[in-house]
Amino acid sequence: MTKLGIIGAMDVEVAALKGKMEKPVLSKRAGMEFCEGVLEGLPAVVVQSGVGKVNAAMCAQILCDCFGVTAIINTGVAGSLCNDLDIGDLLVSRDAMYHDVDCHFVDYPVGMVPGMPLAFEADDTLLAYAFAAAESVNPGHTKIGRVASGDQFVCQTEQKARITAVTMAMCTEMEGTAIAQTAFRNAVPFVILRAISDKADDSAQMDYPTFEAIAADRCARVTMAMAKCIREAEDE
Ligand code: ADE
Repeated sequence: MTKLGIIGAMDVEVAALKGKMEKPVLSKRAGMEFCEGVLEGLPAVVVQSGVGKVNAAMCAQILCDCFGVTAIINTGVAGSLCNDLDIGDLLVSRDAMYHDVDCHFVDYPVGMVPGMPLAFEADDTLLAYAFAAAESVNPGHTKIGRVASGDQFVCQTEQKARITAVTMAMCTEMEGTAIAQTAFRNAVPFVILRAISDKADDSAQMDYPTFEAIAADRCARVTMAMAKCIREAEDE
């Protein structure tokens, strides 16, 4: 049976999920609190990684090494990079790449960590479950596409334009690709599920605080629905 590792960067992204966990057992590692139990009938571990790529990668590695998760979901909010994704809409990752890695002077494409793929592919089965779950929560408002990650809150129009041109991603956030890279190196399937809290442009500083909680709540509901979809498929 699948054992889910669920990572959110901020408390608002994981609190509702922790609240729904049955038989929760809490433990701490690297300053992160891991909540292990049963979610919608599936064994699961929910954890708040903290913001940014390093926190996210550490967290994903601990989930692999210490909790033996067999699938990783990164859930949370993101800034939209395209007109098709409005505030409150959902994005399921087809793949994920960095927007702040640059070794082009030594002949690597912008975004590529030498020795790694340019983009990390999400698992097809998890992607299908995430899409079905997202559609059940917010019908007609889910896209599948690329996630761009970096250690930057994107809130300037030029910054957004550069990231979009380099990555051709549909949304931007600060953890997903680090989790994807860690999952890749551990041969654990992953998917990123994000709800849009802002447009990652000059309006983002205003919109983000207004829509963060709504978007995070939507993402948590989709993550629960996804756990249910997986459990039902495995019960058959
Ligand atoms: N998470 C939500 N909105 C974001 C943005 N504009 N930039 C980076 N991460 C985000």
